[in-house]
Amino acid sequence: MAKTVTAKAHTNIALVKYWGKKDAQLMLPQNGSISLTLDHFYTETSVTFDTQLNHDQVYFNDQLLQPAQSQRISRFLDLVRQRSGLHAPAAVKTTNHVPTSAGLASSASGFAALAAASSRAAGMDLDATALSRLARRGSGSATRSIFGGFVEWHAGHDDQSSFAEVIQDPVDWDIQMIAVVLKATKKPISSTDGMARVVATSPYYPAWVETAETDLTRMRAAIAAKDLAAVGTIAETNAMRMHALNLSAAPAFNYFTADTLTAIQAVTDLRAHGINCYYTLDAGPNVKIICAGHDTTVIKTALQQYFAPEQLIVAKPGPGITMTEA
Ligand code: PMV
Repeated sequence: MAKTVTAKAHTNIALVKYWGKKDAQLMLPQNGSISLTLDHFYTETSVTFDTQLNHDQVYFNDQLLQPAQSQRISRFLDLVRQRSGLHAPAAVKTTNHVPTSAGLASSASGFAALAAASSRAAGMDLDATALSRLARRGSGSATRSIFGGFVEWHAGHDDQSSFAEVIQDPVDWDIQMIAVVLKATKKPISSTDGMARVVATSPYYPAWVETAETDLTRMRAAIAAKDLAAVGTIAETNAMRMHALNLSAAPAFNYFTADTLTAIQAVTDLRAHGINCYYTLDAGPNVKIICAGHDTTVIKTALQQYFAPEQLIVAKPGPGITMTEA
């Protein structure tokens, strides 16, 4: 009987964002990015290659997916089969502890876990750098979810040179995120299509690539100095520039809802009252508040004017990928 490998990977939220591909086939980004891996949101995935199966069988949160729904996963498994020389279909069971498709980067933890579990189940013994490069082929943000703490993805110029590595792990200072989980609507446009459109049509795109470079340098220094205000300020500006690309695309698009703007305003107001907190947003309506643990109560209390307590989820820096074999 073939072995089953289970991997657990945590989501990450980018502080300097990846938003645009240089090579869609190899998933090479236009610019490097920096993220924080979170403890609260993760994906667990088991993979068994089984010659008895006729085709890949993918269970997502205990539900069997139709082949059309699991196409992206099968394409990724094809890459693993091609590299390992294995031909068998795979049984995949994945449990997501992340609201799917709502801008909490479920594809990051999802493809990181799939890369680790499937490559090990296929008999490949990849080190963390090779796993990061493999995860990149599933989803760009997954490149970073192999690692814990603060992570940088080097854009690179080919398959070999585009991978992530740890900047700081463990994170031994007081920084966390409060995820404001808003109504989980389906994305108006996928991140893949959104990125392609901004690269092709936003007149601001060259400025984004240029400022991302500066943001990376400043963010590395802010993390090394354990400076929450600097990390938060750079992240907030960078996030709004990413969303400005979307607003400046043709046709324009955005991921905001009315609740998104309410949460942004609440964070801005708290800051005006001296609370050290900042926001960031990804390809979905949710707002992530970057803050210190000792401000949790004051921030949650303010946000609870607008949102239910269960919509406010505190996440601390989280660990890198782990694997078990059975
Ligand atoms: O790799 P994807 O398709 O999940 O794209 C992620 C894009 C952002 O989450 C918006 C930014 C990032 O760097 O994670």
